[in-house]
Amino acid sequence: MSQPRDIAVIVGSLRKASWNRKMAHALIALAPPALKLEIVEIGALPLYNPDEEDAGPPAAYTAFRERMHRVDGVIFATPEYNRSVPAPLKNAIDVGSRPYGKSVWSGKPAAVISVSPGALGAYGANHQLRQCFVFLDMPVLQQPEAYLGHADKMIDASGGFANDATRDFLTKFLGAFEAWIRKQRAAPPAA
Ligand SMILES: Cc1cc2nc3c(=O)[nH]c(=O)nc-3n(C[C@H](O)[C@H](O)[C@H](O)COP(=O)(O)O)c2cc1C
Repeated sequence: MSQPRDIAVIVGSLRKASWNRKMAHALIALAPPALKLEIVEIGALPLYNPDEEDAGPPAAYTAFRERMHRVDGVIFATPEYNRSVPAPLKNAIDVGSRPYGKSVWSGKPAAVISVSPGALGAYGANHQLRQCFVFLDMPVLQQPEAYLGHADKMIDASGGFANDATRDFLTKFLGAFEAWIRKQRAAPPAA
């Protein structure tokens, strides 16, 4: 078998007991052999300031950018803060997008899972994130959409799936993402 795809999972919440982090771990456990998922942490990235970049980028930026340049795709797992993307996640996106012309995001296949304990499944954050991908030129998986509300009913106390429907849905989601990456990374047809 060929090497599995190297997939970064970026969690938009810094909370230790985060539902999004629990969902990310559940996804990692569920990933098919063709995908190797790993959480790439964003909590130590200083707030983006172009002046600091000009003075020499902080080591945390360089490490993050180097890691993200290497990955074959990205899964974002995000909560919604005030109907938008949480600041740490937006900051990570901004850090990865610079220096101008050297964005880590260009052409990188992406997928979004938004998770909340409420009913709406962080729909607003999910779509605000997608708005960034237009400018960043990230081909993002469209279907199945993943707005995971009532997270407390999906993940049990040990971090496992609380029901088969959630497991089945996420299995389908990962299968679709694997096919999406294959399509995006396929060699163009010969002229
Ligand atoms: C600053 C802040 C703003 C929030 N805004 C929203 C919101 O707009 N919509 C929503 O569904 N939940 C909102 N919440 C509640 C989060 O959905 C909830 O805290 C959730 O557990 C966060 O995800 P996490 O468990 O992965 O940390 C907000 C929470 C915080 C701390």
